[in-house]
Amino acid sequence: MAQQNKSFSFQCQASCSHTKARAGVFVTPHGLIETPKFMPVGTVATVKALTPKQLEEAGSQIILANTYHLHLQPGEGIIEQAGGLHKFMSWDKPILTDSGGFQVFSLSKLRKITDDGVIFRSPRDGRIINMTPELSIAIQNALGADVIMAFDECPPYPAERSQVEAAVERTYQWLKRCINAHKRPDEQALFGIVQGGVYLDLRREAAEALVSLDLPGYAIGGVSVGEPPELIHKIVDATAPYLPPEKPRYLMGIGTYREMARAVAAGIDLFDCVIPTRVGRHGAALVQGERWNLKNAQFREDFTPLDDTCPCYCCQNFSRAYLNHLVRSREALGIMLLSLHNVTELIRFTQKIRESILRDTFTVEFAQWLEVG
Ligand code: GUN
Ligand code: ZN
Repeated sequence: MAQQNKSFSFQCQASCSHTKARAGVFVTPHGLIETPKFMPVGTVATVKALTPKQLEEAGSQIILANTYHLHLQPGEGIIEQAGGLHKFMSWDKPILTDSGGFQVFSLSKLRKITDDGVIFRSPRDGRIINMTPELSIAIQNALGADVIMAFDECPPYPAERSQVEAAVERTYQWLKRCINAHKRPDEQALFGIVQGGVYLDLRREAAEALVSLDLPGYAIGGVSVGEPPELIHKIVDATAPYLPPEKPRYLMGIGTYREMARAVAAGIDLFDCVIPTRVGRHGAALVQGERWNLKNAQFREDFTPLDDTCPCYCCQNFSRAYLNHLVRSREALGIMLLSLHNVTELIRFTQKIRESILRDTFTVEFAQWLEVG
């Protein structure tokens, strides 16, 4: 069932002469996303410690939220009553919701996977929930994000080939059910998710099967589940060529400098990761490719900004010594400022990649990130 419509488009503006990197514009009902782009994670309809205004200042053009968490609390009914997720959280730019499959596997005890769906006990109130492709899509239709994700099965790492084969087949069967259940294809683009673990031939098979269903975008899932980074690149390199060049490509759960740069070189457009906000809450800053623990004594008398090239409110107004003090005092402002800087930093990294692709200097400017090793 084709889902062509006028609310969504993806246009490639420039391609790298030496790699498969591309710069593009993905248009959605709530605005455009210039790719490659890092997407901050706002699991429970808040990117932790940041206001929508701060997110905008950080350069966010799209944020994520999660079906699993929002179904448990406050429930999609409340969000629907509020007029949808955008209104509820006062964010009027694009939103992407993940389907909940991945989170059910990683967060719920007592889960049981069948061909029908995943049965699990709510960690919140103990009730039994049967999450199916149909329920995931119904919840995502009620939330109203611009991009919604197929309900998939993400096998663990390591996993036997036979288990991964079964997950690929199930994910494909579930995708067809997601497409049938989707009530708002004109307002919400449904992305398929390629599984296949570390088995590169299964990745290709999965990609080709998904592509035959002609979706508005495709994601590579089942990475960053504990495998060595080298394998992430092998998986991406083996999958991206089978995804259509005229559709956006999203690598799920990846947001480290090197992995993003290398994935861009393989033709990936979108990334998400909890790292910038998570490490921010633990007193760490991402600074030009490194991770610094602001609690360290070396910062106690360092009155320079975190990163004097960074335009964020934290770097423009505060010193490392002040951040050191806030972190040591466990002050909320420390978490807020570090989260703001870290999100700004990763978005800026993808923006710099984008600009280098537009100038066709990507492999020169990002050589240090691209080298294999
Ligand atoms: N987030 C990170 N990896 C995955 C995945 O494989 N599937 C889904 N649905 N979400 C993810
Ligand atoms: Zn900054």
